[in-house]
This record gives sequence, C-alpha cells and structure tokens, in this order.
Amino acid sequence: MQDRIKALLQLEPSDEMVRAEGWVRTKRDSKNVSFVEINDGSCLKGLQAVIDRSRFDSSLLDRITTGASIVAEGRIVPSQGGNQKTELSVDNLTVIGDCPQDYPLQKKRHTVEFLREKAYLRPRTNLFGAVTRVRNTMSYAVHSFFQENGFIYVNTPLISASDCEGAGEQFQVTTLDLGNVPMTEDDKVDYSKDFFGKMANLTVSGQLEGETYATAMKNIYTFGPTFRAENSNTTRHLAEFWMIEPEMAFCTLEGDMEWAEKFLKYIFSAVLEKNAEDMEFFSKFVLEGVEDTLRHVIESPFAHMTYTDAIKALEPENDRFEFPVKWGVEIQTEHEKFLTEHVAGCPVIVTDYPKDIKAFYMKLNDDGKTVRAMDVLAPRLGEIIGGSEREYRYDVLVNRMHELGLNPADYWWYLDLRKYGTVPHAGFGLGFERAVQYVTGVANIRDVIPYPRYAKSCEY
Ligand code: 4AD
Ligand code: MG
Repeated sequence: MQDRIKALLQLEPSDEMVRAEGWVRTKRDSKNVSFVEINDGSCLKGLQAVIDRSRFDSSLLDRITTGASIVAEGRIVPSQGGNQKTELSVDNLTVIGDCPQDYPLQKKRHTVEFLREKAYLRPRTNLFGAVTRVRNTMSYAVHSFFQENGFIYVNTPLISASDCEGAGEQFQVTTLDLGNVPMTEDDKVDYSKDFFGKMANLTVSGQLEGETYATAMKNIYTFGPTFRAENSNTTRHLAEFWMIEPEMAFCTLEGDMEWAEKFLKYIFSAVLEKNAEDMEFFSKFVLEGVEDTLRHVIESPFAHMTYTDAIKALEPENDRFEFPVKWGVEIQTEHEKFLTEHVAGCPVIVTDYPKDIKAFYMKLNDDGKTVRAMDVLAPRLGEIIGGSEREYRYDVLVNRMHELGLNPADYWWYLDLRKYGTVPHAGFGLGFERAVQYVTGVANIRDVIPYPRYAKSCEY
C-alpha cells in the first residue's frame, strides 16, 4: 500500500525511498529544476516534488502538465522554499496519464458556476476537495454519534407506497409504458398492471418506517437518500438529498430537542477536530469567520421559542419582509434568518407550530390548535432540522388524518403501532447537505453534493 500525500507531508527528512501517486496541480520550471505540486485528495496541500531536470529526458518532463497523473519516487528532504517544511527529491518519475492543454482546470480561480458544469472534475479543485473531505468526516460522525449512544442503524426503503410528509412532492416509480398507459373502466390509471400492482414512489422520508423500528428497538436512526419533486429553485433545495432521521421511543419533544442539539454539536466538533486545514480554507476563501462561528455555536446553548413568540417577534418587522407574517402562516426562510441572526444571534429551536401548516403525524397540543413540532433554524440558512413528538393516541391520529383528507386505511400499519403497545415517541430529520453548507459556509447546496439533482438538471 502506498502512503497518501497527507502522510508523506508529515514525514521527517530521511534516506528512505517513498512513493507519491497523484495528479499534477502546478508545475514551475527554472533552468535546472522543476517544481511539481502533486495532490491526491487526502489533504488540501500538495506535496512539492523537486525534479533535477538534468537527470530526466526533456520529452518526459514536457509530459508533466497540470492534470496529468504521475508517480514520483524519491526521498523527503528539507525544503529550500518558504512554503513548506519538506519536499520530495525525485529519483524516479513516471507519467501514467497525460493531460493535454484543453484540461478545463488550468491554474486559476474558477467560479462555482463554471465548476458545476464540470462536476466530474471539480473534486480535483481545492474547494471541492475540502467539501468532500468535510462531508466524509460528517458522515462518519453521524454514525459514531448514534453508535456511541446506543442507537441502531436501520435502512428504510427508498421505494415507498406512502407519502410521509403528505405534501404530494413525490417522484413516481413505474414500469408502465408512458406512451400507452393502461386505464381502468372509470378512466383512471390502472396501477394493478404496474410493477408493484399499485402506485409507488421514491421516499420523501424514512420516518414512518423508522417509527415502526423505534417502537421495537427503542432508539434507531436512518441515514440515506431522500427524494422530493419540489420545484423550488433555491440555494437550499435539492430533488435528491441525504437525510438523517433518528427516532426515539419513550421520548417526548423535550428529549427530541436535547438529542438534536447534542447531535449537531457533535458532528460540528468532529469537523473542527479533523479538518482544521480545510476549515481554515473555508474561513479564508468561502465565508469569513465560518470556523469561529462554528466554535461559538458548539459552545453556546441553542435558543428556544414557540411559534407564537416567533410571530410576535417578527410581526413588528413586517415591513422588511417579502412575505409579511401573522399567526397561522408558514415561517419562510427570510423570517428564519431574521430570528436566528437578529433576534437570537444563534441557532434557534422553534416549537409548537399551528397544526394546519404541519404534517399529520405530529402530536396535537391540548390547545387543539398547535402541534409538538420543532424546527432547528440556523443563521444564514434557516431550517436545517425538522422534527416532532409523534401522535401516539389512536383516535386523535385518525381524526387528524380525516381533517387532512388522508385515508386511514392507507396507513393501517402505522395506525396499528398506536394499537399494539403504543408509546410516546419523537424524532427529527437533519438535511445532511444543509448541515454541510452550514459547516463550510458554501452558499449553494448544489456545491456540497457530488452530482446535484434539481428541476431541469440531471447531468452525469
Ligand atoms: O422538515 P422535513 O420535511 O421533515 C421530515 O421529513 C420529517 N419526516 C423528519 C423527521 O421528523 N423524521 O425535512 C427534514 C429536513 C429539513 O429540515 C431540511 O434540512 C431537509 O430535511 N430538507 C431538504 N434538504 C435539501 N433539499 C430539500 N428539498 C429538502 N427538503 C427538506
Ligand atoms: Mg420541515
């Protein structure tokens, strides 16, 4: 196994031969030596390889161009230059894959818009390399957090016959011939002829199935892709995103909020600990001070307010909003940002939303008007977590379904949970890309996932 560049950069000078494999970022020639920066994605910095030009054929040296893949063997020596402590003094050099001049990532700063069009190459840039490493740390931390706390990882289905959020934003899964759709006698699509014998969709959330496992295993979590046919062309929405959904039995809204705060702080801390160099890069080139903000968020408690209090704080400011608020309306991103940035100055957990703007499964409060919902709002982004205590009372849940025009028969198994050993339980969903956006300061969600899918865009 070969050492990665990250490990080679840690080595002290010695006579031992080492081998570096990677892609050329830059090459600088002087009369006698060439300086080649080799990067392999293991860290932001590359290894400086110093090549004595007199020892190699000029035809070989000419093939060392930006983007080429090379193997360089040699010894780690103290560096003469000021930018690095050590460098590789090259004895053997092989070009594995040449890279011609039309390589799109020539040495200069490219815009994120340009790089989005070159999504298959963008992980070779500093920005996307750093995002990819931070995303990796956060994925690992998600699992460590829940595993250390005794949660069981559950894989809920991606193809589903129920609509968890009831928002009608699902992508249909079908093998029917769309040019010749079979119809029933009353002129409806005949799904009995479809692959599953009924209508099926890509999941918008694993929560309902997650609840069935929580009411057996007590604490579970899911971490998987989620699909929403939301036609919203924003910097915070994707059609395919990753969601983490823990679900806890014998737990109410208070416990839910505690888990959410502890969880966020854990994954943020993991990045500060493991990606110091990447965080410094984000603070310098992406969003000034993002690293300090993150540290501050980890150290201070989140603010809490009810929806009703949030509206009270927002109403006097209605002049500044595109969508003025009053009790009963949805809190939009502009309001969420105002609450976090101007009212609280930190992440805020808003609770007890009107039942009419939230999903059917949330526990109804005694006032009959609000539900035990909670959204975690982050400065800059707005909502990053949506969660709630679940309605565990059979009759109340059936009533809610009727109120919202859902057919209880479609959710018979979900209702059965309320019949067989029902228990208070709660959970939440963290949009993984929004969390990555928050940590890195990257403005557009399309730049924190390898291949973003959104309306009218499914490249690669
Ligand atoms: O608030 P949401 O819709 O909640 C649920 O899906 C619940 N079933 C979660 C639960 O209680 N188990 O979505 C949860 C989070 C949002 O707060 C947001 O961060 C993210 O998922 N999200 C999106 N991220 C990117 N693109 C989209 N289109 C998103 N829609 C939601
Ligand atoms: Mg939500």
